[in-house]
Amino acid sequence: MKNFTSELSVGAYLKAGANKTVRTLSQLKDLYSNREEVNRILENEDPVLYEVFEMPPSPKETDLLVNITVLHAGVVGEEPFMTKGHFHQDPDTGEVVIGLKGSGILLLQNRKGEIQEFPVEEGKVSYAAGGWGHRVINTGKEDLHFLAISGANMIHDYETAVKLNFKSLPVENKERISANE
Ligand code: F6R
Ligand code: ZN
Repeated sequence: MKNFTSELSVGAYLKAGANKTVRTLSQLKDLYSNREEVNRILENEDPVLYEVFEMPPSPKETDLLVNITVLHAGVVGEEPFMTKGHFHQDPDTGEVVIGLKGSGILLLQNRKGEIQEFPVEEGKVSYAAGGWGHRVINTGKEDLHFLAISGANMIHDYETAVKLNFKSLPVENKERISANE
């Protein structure tokens, strides 16, 4: 990556050279358990769930990945908008998550099924150690912005998250829903 300095805002980050990736509901519909609601929404529109603004890393393994994600506010049935969620293929590659704006949850789950949840909001920094899959859930009413920093040698492993049935709700919501079923 080249040297850069930027305000911690999406506009400034784009000006500093970030690339943007957009994730829509039709790309991620399998994340949500309420299929009828997914189809109902998609009949009218294909909402953008989140955007990732990534500063292009150099191919060198020792470089860093530095991303801002903007996770929009909304729900699909009972489940709030969330990132796809992934493990890093190399279990030694961790990640720092710094909340910038809005409020949400960083959900961590390891291969043993152990779960931890940390807040994502302005002024909070969390660390996901290697071996912990991670997903961010927007539990608030406004867009959630966060900065993520990890090693550029990291390969996203989305399959393991699917196989392990990665959680999609903060614990207290999940309990509330099953209690009402
Ligand atoms: C990088 C990282 C984040 C996410 C981004 C989108 O390792 O964890 O930058 O890539 O928040 O989430 P996913 O990749 O799960 O769609
Ligand atoms: Zn990651």
